[in-house]
Amino acid sequence: MNIRFRIQRFDPDHDITSRYAVYQVEVSDATSVLDALDQIKGEQDGTLAYRHACRAGMCGSCGMLINGRNRLACTTRVLALEAEEVSVSALPGFAVLRDLIVDWDPFFAREAVMQPYLIADAPPPEQERRQTPAQLARYANATRCIQCGCCTSACPIVWHNGEYFGPAALTRLARYVFDSRDSATAARLALAASEEGAWRCHTIFNCSEDCPKGIQTAEMIQALKRGVALRLLGFNDPRAR
Ligand code: F3S
Repeated sequence: MNIRFRIQRFDPDHDITSRYAVYQVEVSDATSVLDALDQIKGEQDGTLAYRHACRAGMCGSCGMLINGRNRLACTTRVLALEAEEVSVSALPGFAVLRDLIVDWDPFFAREAVMQPYLIADAPPPEQERRQTPAQLARYANATRCIQCGCCTSACPIVWHNGEYFGPAALTRLARYVFDSRDSATAARLALAASEEGAWRCHTIFNCSEDCPKGIQTAEMIQALKRGVALRLLGFNDPRAR
């Protein structure tokens, strides 16, 4: 089947703003949007720029705005979109460097602020730090994040306020707040309570809807708010409630 692709193009050396170019691509049932981009690049226009790596929905490199939703190009089948035209743009809310390639530096800078690693007071035990299934269940969903940026890019608060930590960074924060092995709860909840933290979230839920891994990012942010409130009420460990 022949499908029309409308693709955002931007060459920083020649363009003042982005434009869209149209290509026709012959696709089969198995063709992904990434396969179609490869066909365009290989057979029609070698200058098209986009990121990809694993081709299996695991590396988070190929997040793009595809027919109005943030999705991974490698796991999105063209015909599953049920559209005669497929529109592909760079992730909204991120600065475009070239075509579909965006600047990831602000995103990863916010992730780094979250100290995304276990901080434990106690010396390492002789065996592993064990958890019950119930303790694991409090944060397991958040560990599926592949840092594709689809959630953060879908959030209108991020578009409006570039300082807001955004759903990806806050979900990373929540992942450690609700991990029974982590000892930095007070500092992490202070981050959640800060001006650019969880209270900036207006519970719009675009983030959860566009997460390709099914992470309930909006719910994680609400759990952070609950943790902050419990701490203000004198309950020091949000994991105990
Ligand atoms: Fe944004 Fe998600 Fe909150 S879309 S406003 S972070 S629920």
